Amino acid sequence: MDAIDALKTRRSVRAYRQQPVPKEVIEDLVDCGRLAATALNVQPWEFVVLTDPERLRSVAETTDHGRFIAGAAACIAVLCKETKYFLEDGSAATQNILLAAQAHGLGACWVAGDKKPYAAEICRLLGAPAGYRLISLIPIGYPAEEPAKEKRALGEVLHWERF
Ligand SMILES: Cc1cc2nc3c(=O)[nH]c(=O)nc-3n(C[C@H](O)[C@H](O)[C@H](O)COP(=O)(O)O)c2cc1C
Repeated sequence: MDAIDALKTRRSVRAYRQQPVPKEVIEDLVDCGRLAATALNVQPWEFVVLTDPERLRSVAETTDHGRFIAGAAACIAVLCKETKYFLEDGSAATQNILLAAQAHGLGACWVAGDKKPYAAEICRLLGAPAGYRLISLIPIGYPAEEPAKEKRALGEVLHWERF
């Protein structure tokens, strides 16, 4: 799948087949995350991969809208050191991982981290040092659904020269 196909076909997938994802594939997703654009090349990110069903369940149960994490083959937690642009940097890394997952034929979903009341508790569960913020949780697995979210049309959002 080329990059444009991955971008245009990606949708959030929240139901996964009970099939493990090879370690090399997970490593490739994180590799794509670490190569994201980052302000001043600070690269404030760290990635914690969960595959243990008990750990997946406890993280899932700590969230509000991420209970389906419990059914994923793995979950990548994106954390950033609290630098000036940590949220933008961590978001860029998250989007890279979502697109890489799509290119690998996996389903994934961005589950909110920063701004959620449970973010600090998840940092604690993951053993993150002080000064790190949770950007996102990304459950991944082979898709068991094909969601088709409506998107705003290009003509509605594209403005040439001025708004
Ligand atoms: C910052 C952010 C936080 C999100 N948090 C959640 C979440 O907690 N739970 C969830 O199921 N989806 C979450 N999503 C996924 C959105 O619901 C989804 O991207 C949106 O509905 C558009 O659908 P699509 O991803 O299929 O295009 C989040 C997405 C973003 C960008």
